[in-house]
Amino acid sequence: MRGKLIVFEGVEGCGKSTQLQQLRESLAQSAAFQALQNQGIIPELLTTREPGGTDLGIGLRRLLLEDYGEVAIAPRAELLLYAADRAQHIEEMILPTLEAGSWVLCDRFTDSTVAYQGYGRGLDLGLIQELNQVATAGLVPDLTIWLKLDVEQGLARAQRRGAQDRMEQAELAFHQRVQQGFETLAQQFPDQRATIDGAQSADAVAAAIHTVVQDYLAEWYKPFLAI
Ligand code: TMP
Repeated sequence: MRGKLIVFEGVEGCGKSTQLQQLRESLAQSAAFQALQNQGIIPELLTTREPGGTDLGIGLRRLLLEDYGEVAIAPRAELLLYAADRAQHIEEMILPTLEAGSWVLCDRFTDSTVAYQGYGRGLDLGLIQELNQVATAGLVPDLTIWLKLDVEQGLARAQRRGAQDRMEQAELAFHQRVQQGFETLAQQFPDQRATIDGAQSADAVAAAIHTVVQDYLAEWYKPFLAI
């Protein structure tokens, strides 16, 4: 059986990277997940991110997030660089991992392109959808976890972490449009999507994510867990 792709999304500072690691740890302790691993049904659990999940992606991430000062990146060039990162990531890492039956936990995916380049930069949503389709070879996540957090709260958290990258430095209105993008995606495509309140304590967020994933896991692997 093909593995599962679980994606974490949200605005800057929403806590997704921390929560992705928390989920990794909670799955390692889940009896059902362990049983599936012991039977060889889910050989591995891979954690990765976009941009930057592959060697090529590390270079692209640097190009995308470094502060260019006076040298701006045109929105369409930015879109294509994120798409290139994703195409490589899918081909080199995500698809082979899923085909082996393993799980992939990914920090950001196609929703980020819709939210940031579509809603944030104002690029055509139809074009983004087509490009996402090309970059992913049609693969869609089995579950997208959206950590919903107020933009200003998130940016304040990101600021406390230290130096701001090129995207984080964008104006507040940009980040508010990005939030609107995530909001619209959650409303328009509720299937295989979970909205979690990111303003709760980190433990409460982790517990909520754990419950959602356990429910999906029980459903996906019903035939294997029943015996
Ligand atoms: P992060 O992984 O630390 O959140 O940083 C990635 C940055 O790249 C973040 O500002 C969101 C942005 N991004 C896009 O604008 N479009 C995309 O398609 C992806 C994957 C990320």
